[in-house]
Amino acid sequence: MITTRIVATGASVPDMVVTNDDLAKIVDTSDEWIVQRTGIRERRISGGENTSVLAINTARQVLERAKADSEQVDLIIVASVTPDYGTPSLACMVQKELGCVNAVAFDVVAACSGFMFALSVADKYIKTGVYRNAIVIGAETLSKIVDWSDRTTCVLFGDGAGGAFVEASTEGDGILAEELGSKGELCEILTEGQTLCANAFNEVSPDEAAYYIYMDGRAVFKFATKMVVKSAANVIEQAGITADDIAYVVPHQANARIIDVVAHKLKMDREKFYMNMDRYGNTSSASVPMALNELNEKGLIHRGDKIMLTGFGGGMTWGTMLVQW
Ligand code: COA
Repeated sequence: MITTRIVATGASVPDMVVTNDDLAKIVDTSDEWIVQRTGIRERRISGGENTSVLAINTARQVLERAKADSEQVDLIIVASVTPDYGTPSLACMVQKELGCVNAVAFDVVAACSGFMFALSVADKYIKTGVYRNAIVIGAETLSKIVDWSDRTTCVLFGDGAGGAFVEASTEGDGILAEELGSKGELCEILTEGQTLCANAFNEVSPDEAAYYIYMDGRAVFKFATKMVVKSAANVIEQAGITADDIAYVVPHQANARIIDVVAHKLKMDREKFYMNMDRYGNTSSASVPMALNELNEKGLIHRGDKIMLTGFGGGMTWGTMLVQW
């Protein structure tokens, strides 16, 4: 049986660090409030580099770490809600810069679950033998869609990219179980980037569009704790393992309090949940692969370890996977 295994990870963030104290200078907030309610201390913010720059840097790194030749890459998928353009896709921009001339390249949109959805698509192509390998990236510059005068959202988000090189395996490792889900009926609790239908015959003021991030924080909190717990339990059952068999959970880095609730409900050791939101905030589709890369770079993952990846976000969407290293 063919499975999809992760052979290399990578990440890229802008150099600019914006601390909670920096934010307290532009909105009515404090380091104490942000740390207590979210666990976030600082985030990286673009000094001008757009999402493609972060995606390309990450893709280059995973390709080098996988010791793969760019012409051998079959598939490039980038997840993002903040691409540089409507078209070309970020994936095509990565293809051009890396010279992956034989790859098929496209983007997917599933907000903060984006990397999970992109990895799932790559997995299906690889499992079915259509392609042998893929570069899968989550990349965002959320700073361009944040309302910097709204303290309820601007303290939460950051910019960055993370990704992985994945390939076909016949050794029984890789992605062993997964659950993706969508609840479109909740689509209005988290929105960004609305464009209205303005044309020569229909005048619309750009101010009427909900361009910046809008979030009903409490509704998202409720959704996240419910769906992450449910999907994690389903994936554990599907894989025929117990929660004790999991070495690490790499969750979406939205809020430390959400992770506390999830760990408690799953009766899992909180120490198994890897977190780096204190330094990067919520980077949407980049958050799970950035955290996975950090865990990997620290040498904390060993061959044979079972790792759970789980994301949730706008749509509303969620995705959970069990991966054997
Ligand atoms: N600094 C200081 N005070 C703030 C603040 C800030 N940055 N943001 C909000 N507040 C205030 C509110 O105005 C409110 O004041 P009030 O009581 O006078 O009206 C008070 O703090 C409590 O606000 P509330 O929204 O109830 O806080 P909360 O405990 O629900 O925390 C979130 C807010 C956003 C941190 C929390 O709801 C959350 O994490 N939700 C999930 C978000 C998420 O996961 N998003 C990612 C989706 S992928």
